[in-house]
Amino acid sequence: MQIYSRIADLRQTLQQTRARGEKIAFVPTMGNLHDGHLVLMRAARAYAFTVVASVFVNRLQFGSGEDFDRYPRTLAEDVEKLAAVGVHALFAPDERELYPEPQGYFVEPPELQHLLEGEFRPGHFRGVATVVLKLFNAVQPDVAIFGKKDYQQLMLIRAMTRQLALPIEIIGIDTVRAEDGLALSSRNNYLSAAERAEAPRLYQVLCELREAILGDGAQNIEELTAEARNNLDSNGWQTDYLAVRRQSDLGAPSQYANQEKLVLVAAARLGSTRLIDNLEV
Ligand code: PAJ
Repeated sequence: MQIYSRIADLRQTLQQTRARGEKIAFVPTMGNLHDGHLVLMRAARAYAFTVVASVFVNRLQFGSGEDFDRYPRTLAEDVEKLAAVGVHALFAPDERELYPEPQGYFVEPPELQHLLEGEFRPGHFRGVATVVLKLFNAVQPDVAIFGKKDYQQLMLIRAMTRQLALPIEIIGIDTVRAEDGLALSSRNNYLSAAERAEAPRLYQVLCELREAILGDGAQNIEELTAEARNNLDSNGWQTDYLAVRRQSDLGAPSQYANQEKLVLVAAARLGSTRLIDNLEV
């Protein structure tokens, strides 16, 4: 696997890749890679001959009180894992390479950016969209792979790609979980042993809520959601949101919810660690 820290060097190599007629699949990450990330890398291999990953902890998408400084940076281990799953090139720029001057141009996503995650992380999706467009411009992939774990992020990237006519196919991959159901996340590393034992409740609550909604034909969504939230809160969680939304636009379902495809979305904190998860109904 080749490692690039500069856009110019990466571009030169990928120009040759394209000249050979090879398609490029791209998987952007912030590193500290776990099996969820590696599933995306393996999926990428099915879409293109050449797989490019990136590792960059993007300051723009972190709020001022968030974990940018303590976000785990484990490049040496990441390099080994990426090489082992057959990634061809890693783009790992430093901040000076990606933001050589203060970023003054931004991708401002539509209203969707202010819902759910956006309500609790103002400016987050603007930072995500801006860096993803910049990474897309550096790599110029044919296909880009994202996890459904970050459901709203995937929706926003799909919409950005469509509305800005980027010639890139966006692929979403199902969430990879630990045996007890906890969605894999770099932030799981922050959990104490006791918190780690409690953490699977987030997914359990979503699974139970899904069963309950399916059981009564989506007639009592508000009541069932309040119960689910209560279950978390009475077990030491602080729930930012737990909501039933339409898959199509993450809006609240109408009273004819049984005819709409739904997704359950949640973000909750255990101690100082914020976990998110979702489940399609
Ligand atoms: P990061 O959190 O490192 O995630 C990189 C990719 O891995 C995202 O597409 C995310 O949805 C996916 N992913 C994370 N955990 C997963 C799991 N358990 N199962 C399946 N996929 C999973 O998301 C980001 O980085 C950043 O916002 C980024 C897009 C790189 C822009 O900075």
